[in-house]
Amino acid sequence: MFCVRLRPGTYAPRQGDKHLPRIPPLNLIYVANLARMGNMNPADKNIYAAVDTGLISQNVYLFCSSEGLATVILGMVDKATLAKAMGLSSSQKIIFTQPVGYPKR
Ligand SMILES: Cc1cc2nc3c(=O)[nH]c(=O)nc-3n(C[C@H](O)[C@H](O)[C@H](O)COP(=O)(O)O)c2cc1C
Repeated sequence: MFCVRLRPGTYAPRQGDKHLPRIPPLNLIYVANLARMGNMNPADKNIYAAVDTGLISQNVYLFCSSEGLATVILGMVDKATLAKAMGLSSSQKIIFTQPVGYPKR
C-alpha cells in the first residue's frame, strides 16, 4: 500500500461516490507490485492482489467503525491519472482506493 502526499491540484479524484467529499482527509491507495509476485500467471496475480486488498480494506473498515470514522472502498477511480501522478511503473497496478473521512452529521 502506498501512502503519498500529492501536490494540491495534482489529482482530483473521480470517485462518483455520493457519501464522501470530493477530496477526503485521507485516501488509501492499494497498489499491487506485479513484478514481485514471481512466476504466477497474470490472472492469478490479479486474484491475489484483489483478495489481499480486500483483507486490508476490511481491517480499515473495522478500525473506522471502532473510531467513528467513515470509509468506502472504491474501484471506479481514474487509475491512469492517479498512477501518473504517483509515478507508478507499468508493473505497479492500482487495485482500489479507500477514502477515510468523517461521517456526515
Ligand atoms: C470492490 C468494490 C468497489 C467499489 N467501487 C465503488 C466505486 O467506485 N464507487 C461507488 O460509488 N461505490 C463503489 N462500491 C460500493 C461502495 O463501496 C459501497 O458499498 C456503496 O457505496 C454502499 O455504501 P453504503 O452501504 O454505506 O450506502 C464498491 C464496492 C466494492 C465491493
